[in-house]
Amino acid sequence: MISTATAQWQQRDREHHLHPFTDARALAEKGVNVITRADGVYLWNSEGKRFLDGMAGLWCVQVGYGRHELAAVARRQLEELPYYNTFFQSATPPAIDLAAKLGDLTPAGLGHVFFANSGSEANDTAAKMVRAYWNLMGRPEKKTIISRHYAYHGVTMAAASLSGLTPMHTLFDLPLPGFVHVAAPYWYREGGEMSPDEFGVQAARAVEEKILELGPDKVGAFIGEPVMGAGGVIVPPATYWPEIQRICRAHDVLLIADEVICGFGRTGPWFGCDTYGIAPDMMTIAKGLSSGYLPISGVMLHDRVAEVLIDKAGEFAHGFTYSGHLVCCAVALENLRILEEEGIVARAGAETAPYFQARLGELTDHPLVGEVRGVGMVAAIELVADKAARRPFDESRKVGTTCRDLCLENGLVMRAVRDVMVLSPPLVISRDEIDDLVALARRALDATAAAVAAG
Ligand SMILES: Cc1ncc(COP(=O)(O)O)c(C=O)c1O
Repeated sequence: MISTATAQWQQRDREHHLHPFTDARALAEKGVNVITRADGVYLWNSEGKRFLDGMAGLWCVQVGYGRHELAAVARRQLEELPYYNTFFQSATPPAIDLAAKLGDLTPAGLGHVFFANSGSEANDTAAKMVRAYWNLMGRPEKKTIISRHYAYHGVTMAAASLSGLTPMHTLFDLPLPGFVHVAAPYWYREGGEMSPDEFGVQAARAVEEKILELGPDKVGAFIGEPVMGAGGVIVPPATYWPEIQRICRAHDVLLIADEVICGFGRTGPWFGCDTYGIAPDMMTIAKGLSSGYLPISGVMLHDRVAEVLIDKAGEFAHGFTYSGHLVCCAVALENLRILEEEGIVARAGAETAPYFQARLGELTDHPLVGEVRGVGMVAAIELVADKAARRPFDESRKVGTTCRDLCLENGLVMRAVRDVMVLSPPLVISRDEIDDLVALARRALDATAAAVAAG
């Protein structure tokens, strides 16, 4: 029996609340899981049940839950000056300080930031900047943006067009014209008999083929997550990004790195671009920038792109009421201080993330597990019907969803993308907590195997 409070919340939720990426009818039948508090890597629901949050919320709570410093900074800022915009030749100290800090922290040359509120808005902004840049360069035909199947870049009209997940397109008549998709570097599913390195080059060449098919004078940019996240944690072979970089340079195509998940230590170093040696023209950031405590995102621009917009655009007619919201900026600055001064990114990269990958790798021996892959503190466990043949389960069996539900029952938040179980815990997760996570994951895999066997 659930408590009266939980039952009431579930009823009100059912009656009034539409959820993102949710089958509303199925949720109404089941009743929503009401999360009421959190600390460190753990969440509790309204029934007092504890969950180890293997997803850091939605890939974002790098510093873990319950950091009072972040609440204190937000409160101080709200009391001193709760809002002022960055339009009309104004700014606030937190927005200026965060812009400067990001200029220092992000890879070389990314000296300017344009603030927004979500990853989707950042990617929409980047797409508009591509158009503006090539218009200002006198090449108005050079506008098409190439993205990839399995990409996730958000849900606004342009960001969803950039995304490469079919369900995000069909209901909404997307993608818009000017957005095209090529194969992802998904070696496990699409690499066949090739070595990962051979396949990495081939997958990158799909971008070049598309550029040549459309004409280099028609292609404005390529966008990619250094490691694809919501598409199923697709870790690129080592050969992929160097070849992409070469292709973009050769054809004068802007390279946009979507670091919304990878940024702020998720793949080990501070940015996925550091992990893979990518030198982007634009980089979008969100999530870990504030550890999800408040919404904030941004587009980092390389100086050579920023200079064109600054020198030639006149008024840049784009921006959000909350671009550079000072409370969010103050919290982001404090979050970056914590990540840096407490050595959270450094320690995760050097110690706990390798431990996380090694322990998860042990699950490869499980009969359901085709591949365990990952980098830094992000990983996937791909479930298959036949390990030797890498044969997936029939989609209708919903094995991933079963596993996700069994994880929750066992007190672990592990998300399912198709039959790929994905993990992205807070960077502060300890070795003991990693041991707990792996034990819970194994228990859920055993229960899933039993459910599969029972048909
Ligand atoms: C790589 C990537 N880009 C963009 C987004 C969109 O961010 P938001 O949900 O804040 O709009 C996400 C969200 O998960 C993401 O993973």
